[in-house]
Amino acid sequence: MDDVFDPQTASQQDRFLKDVLDGLAKPKKTLPCQYFYDEAGSNLFEQITELPEYYPMRTEIGILNTQAEAIASALGPRALLVEYGAGASTKTRILLDALQDPAGYVPIDVSEDFLLQTADTLKTEYPDLAVHPIAADFMVELGLPVDIDGTPVGFFPGSTIGNLSDDEIDQFLRAARRLLRSGSKFVIGVDLRKSPDILVPAYDDAQGVTAAFNMNLLERINRELGANFDLEAFEHQAIWNDEASRIEMHLRSLKPQSVKIGGTEIKFDADETIHTENSRKFDLEKFVALIGATGWTLRKDWRDDRDFFSVLLLEADD
Ligand code: TRP
Repeated sequence: MDDVFDPQTASQQDRFLKDVLDGLAKPKKTLPCQYFYDEAGSNLFEQITELPEYYPMRTEIGILNTQAEAIASALGPRALLVEYGAGASTKTRILLDALQDPAGYVPIDVSEDFLLQTADTLKTEYPDLAVHPIAADFMVELGLPVDIDGTPVGFFPGSTIGNLSDDEIDQFLRAARRLLRSGSKFVIGVDLRKSPDILVPAYDDAQGVTAAFNMNLLERINRELGANFDLEAFEHQAIWNDEASRIEMHLRSLKPQSVKIGGTEIKFDADETIHTENSRKFDLEKFVALIGATGWTLRKDWRDDRDFFSVLLLEADD
């Protein structure tokens, strides 16, 4: 109901508006990628993961299934699994089923409704498991529940780490190192460099689902902030940036136009883009260099037979 004042909704909406206006005020316009995942966006992303072109999800799941025993034995008994950006927890189940006597599961996700739903489902599927969801942005400093023992094991699948910048990766891994205490391990999924002939279609599929996912950001701004983006006048673009080793997602303005958002007018030139997301594709040496100073050392590298994707095991330095 629109006319009931809800301080939480109000402040979330204020923050959304501020983030959108800040991003669009930059000389190179951007929009923060965390806003992709409203209900419509989450459903579209589910559809993306099932596309024939979108290899990362099924490749990673293949590695986890094939290597489940090896991963479980490298992690040892009584793992306290801490998952960053928990989503639907499909991959979590593969680990939980293989782990020896897991101590607990701590899913961390910004999307609270989705998180609590997932946590409830897991509680019924694994009645002996202590499940302790944390609704938060995983980039901020967090604390672990004190009442669960076990060896903390971070889990960050989906190559979501590839959506972060160098500085954000550094900050994230340092924070994770502090949260997870000594003796801990970290399982991270990273997407690897490969031919643009494979990469570009994965982010610009024939059915246009990825385009709809990207465009949903503008629809959401219209819906929630009362903006007037003309959805016919923008198009989805996925570009391989070889030097930065990343797929860049943009929304391209098809003509000169202006858009009104909360009383502010934003002008677009023809062909000007809003940069909405980066999806980095790593090579292992670069990744190792990146994590060098963060308190983690690479221990294992499990891959599919095409070398498309890698599930890495890191260990805390002390
Ligand atoms: N983490 C996913 C990835 O980089 C997210 C993603 C997939 C995505 N397709 C997208 C983000 C399209 C924005 C637009 O693979």
